[in-house]
Amino acid sequence: MLSQEQVKELRRDFPSLRQKHPVNRRRPIYFDNSCVTLTPRPVAEAVWDYSVSHPGCGGHRSGHWFAEATQAKVASARRALGKLLGVPPVKVSQNDPAYPVIFTRNTTEGLNLVANSLGLLEGETVVLTNKEHNSNLCPWQEFERRGGRLQFVPVLEDNTFDLDRFAAVVEQDHSVKLVALHHSSNLDGVEVPLADAIAIVRRAEREQGRNIFVCVDGAQGAPHSRLNLGYPDKPEYLDVDFYAGSLHKMLGPTGVGFLYGRPECLDSLKPFIVGGSTIFETSVHRRPTYAEWPDRFEAGLQNYAGMIGAGRAAAYLQPLLGEIKPYECHLNGALTQMLEPLQRKGVLRILGPAAPAKRGGVITVVLPWGANDPPMGCFSQQALDHNIMYRSGYFCVDSWFESNSHRLPNRFSTLRFSLYFYNTLQEVERVGHIMTRAFGSA
Ligand SMILES: Cc1ncc(COP(=O)(O)O)c(C=O)c1O
Repeated sequence: MLSQEQVKELRRDFPSLRQKHPVNRRRPIYFDNSCVTLTPRPVAEAVWDYSVSHPGCGGHRSGHWFAEATQAKVASARRALGKLLGVPPVKVSQNDPAYPVIFTRNTTEGLNLVANSLGLLEGETVVLTNKEHNSNLCPWQEFERRGGRLQFVPVLEDNTFDLDRFAAVVEQDHSVKLVALHHSSNLDGVEVPLADAIAIVRRAEREQGRNIFVCVDGAQGAPHSRLNLGYPDKPEYLDVDFYAGSLHKMLGPTGVGFLYGRPECLDSLKPFIVGGSTIFETSVHRRPTYAEWPDRFEAGLQNYAGMIGAGRAAAYLQPLLGEIKPYECHLNGALTQMLEPLQRKGVLRILGPAAPAKRGGVITVVLPWGANDPPMGCFSQQALDHNIMYRSGYFCVDSWFESNSHRLPNRFSTLRFSLYFYNTLQEVERVGHIMTRAFGSA
């Protein structure tokens, strides 16, 4: 686990943590990491360096110095990302070995790419939970509109994954063609036991003699866990077919994401957005023929500054990844303990299981008041005064709120504090004190 000393040292890399609020002159306490993480100086410098040193295009279009430098840095960014995800490079036809990692704008785009390009057929079924982010729900609902079927596996009472029900669906419904699961939830930080779920899928495949794809929404997994997506003989291997993530949730620039695909799955994925860079050959007489991946899926001029920054973010995260989660759980434990009296009094409820270790770096509380009720006003004013940044609302998991409305008060508000490794115990204690003060006497 990271020590307070290490965290103090790491915080020096984040200039935004030293910015003072224009009105209250306080430094930020940033708890909106499930949405966007802060940018460390080396990532900002990599973006700056591209912009001032060689702001050219990539994609082998131009042959000049700027373009070559850009292309080389994009290749090295892809390599850094491949390493972070634990995937080896593979040989794609006559080209150099390539990492099976596609740059996208975000997780949402990666999941849309899979849902649109995998060639899923009418009548085939996609299995999901009822706690998916809209980005891992809407693309499959569009598939449903095209004649596909969806099967939802509701989460258990404590919001954890229902492995038994999932197994029953996958084993009994022979129309299941794909399972689309989140790695970790942005609602409550609870992880899906992916290794167990995937083992069930692979067993069903063997028994039924057919193929089932595993597509993971890794938006909240990749920033917090060391991944092994490509080495079956090494520990912690996750036998996924697709894994999508967002670099802006893992220290990178905004608007850059990735889609890992098992090489043979990427081979069979049809082009989605087509045009410049994606083609092998075009003619006015014939349909285009398309390039190999990754080019086939990176259409048009790309966000090269962002890709290069993403590569730097991946390299920055690499040595830290094993240590992040235990540290977040430690902070989560401290806040949970501070909120215990309020929970006992029935004033608030922390979503997810009681054990903080099962909620990673997310604490979402449900309160029995509307946003304009005095206790909420008191809290939000205090949070503003202390420059605490958090989230409230449905966190893009509206469907969970809909299916759990019977378990929620008639009027309620939610507050989500999502942590990362640069948060400190003092910050967590500050918000704990403010909540106790605002809600304790209500
Ligand atoms: C679990 C989960 N999936 C998908 C997304 C969508 O990510 P993006 O907006 O970067 O595409 C998010 C964003 O918060 C998320 O938390």
